[in-house]
Amino acid sequence: MTDQNLMDKVVALCKRRGFVYPSSEIYGGLAGIYDYGPLGVELLRNIKNLWWSDMVSSREEMYGLDGAILMHPRAWEASGHVAGFTDPLVECKKCKKRYRPDKLEGWSLKKNNQTGEWEITKVGSLKCPDCEGELIPKVRQFNVLMETSLGVIEGEKMKAYLKGESCQNAYLDYLNIISSFSPKLPFGIGQIGKAFRNEITLGRFLFKTREFEQFDIEYFVRPEEADEYYQLWKKIRWEWYIKRIGLKEENLRWRQHSADERIFYARDAWDIEYQYPWGWDELEGVHDRSDYDLVQQGKFSGKTLDYLDSQTGKRFIPYIIECSGGPGRTFFAALCETYREEKGKNNVRVVLGLKPKLSPYKVAVFPLLANKPELVKVARKIYEDLKPELMAAWDDRGNIGKRYLSQDEIGTPWCITTDFQTLEDKMVTVRDRDTTKQERVPIDKLKEYFQNLLR
Ligand code: GAP
Repeated sequence: MTDQNLMDKVVALCKRRGFVYPSSEIYGGLAGIYDYGPLGVELLRNIKNLWWSDMVSSREEMYGLDGAILMHPRAWEASGHVAGFTDPLVECKKCKKRYRPDKLEGWSLKKNNQTGEWEITKVGSLKCPDCEGELIPKVRQFNVLMETSLGVIEGEKMKAYLKGESCQNAYLDYLNIISSFSPKLPFGIGQIGKAFRNEITLGRFLFKTREFEQFDIEYFVRPEEADEYYQLWKKIRWEWYIKRIGLKEENLRWRQHSADERIFYARDAWDIEYQYPWGWDELEGVHDRSDYDLVQQGKFSGKTLDYLDSQTGKRFIPYIIECSGGPGRTFFAALCETYREEKGKNNVRVVLGLKPKLSPYKVAVFPLLANKPELVKVARKIYEDLKPELMAAWDDRGNIGKRYLSQDEIGTPWCITTDFQTLEDKMVTVRDRDTTKQERVPIDKLKEYFQNLLR
């Protein structure tokens, strides 16, 4: 399968089977905005729940947060987003279409890390790729923050921004968390939240959207311990994608930001990249942000965002190690990684070999024959008993072979069938998605059986 083929197939499967829909599709859609459908929302939640339990609730030194999307606009001035959260663009004189110049033939650019401004280092083709009109060679700084307004009286409304990155609440609530919990260093704040960016270049499905989620760890450390914890978090996050999400190690790599690319305050910055269908691209950033965020928010708010070490009596501003990833990109990578086609004698079996913990449905229950009420009755009872504990699907359409194929395509790891023998021995057939092997399991042991498999 070519990579473009894989991309097309994953995108088509997402739409057909209810994982992802273009948002507002009946109005023609909105570029870069998607809705997660009934199966997509399960997969997305499973990814987020896994992240939350691994990174927040099972770690003593981590504190969870669910910060508001709307924050005080000064916070975005302090963070540098109002002045410097820019993307460069050039415009076609004729059709007015806008492009990121670094995506155009022959162009290259450089961001001034102090001012956030983009500078052209090489002007390439001036022909619009769409209408062949003339491109204006001046780079315009386009701020990707999305604006809104707060208040009810026209003229008195306050300009506000939708979060450009989800993590900012963690810096603003840092003092609250210290005063509620008196945490010892190192401690971290974990958050899963929405972010909004008016991205210029789109078109890679869930990879770059204008509304998306981020899962962020902001880990506060003593400055002299920053290097040690930076290495630790690089290891934790790398292993998480392999062991918990099921991405293959050969499809992941580390990429260090070059001195040009690295934001001026970052002491070090590495991205975990995944081999997407179009090539290597970012999955998550693990950055040593120094004390910049707390210093800036302290300066703009007038509050002292330091930490009192109760042992030494010294006050200082902790450094922050940030691990910032995206549930949407993880979702997309998991689909690309696990989509496979197996050619049989008469058909092609499409399988999403997702880790069972991530699969939208854990089991599907069928009666062997839909027109035999005695088989349907036992199967319905099993389905209804399992459903409150495990995500279970019911299917009595078509023949058993088609039902297996249909469940394989959405990643359901196990299918349960009731047959005539079930009526005698109170056992069912459990079929495994990956091996296609079948096993007889007593009905009264099913819950335990699946709980063990999902452990
Ligand atoms: N607080 C740091 C930060 O926001 P980032 O590299 O801009 O850093 C972190 O974003 C993660 O958020 C990315 O690694 C990616 O997983 C996700 N992300 C960023 N922009 C995105 C977009 N337009 N669409 C989908 N996910 C995005």
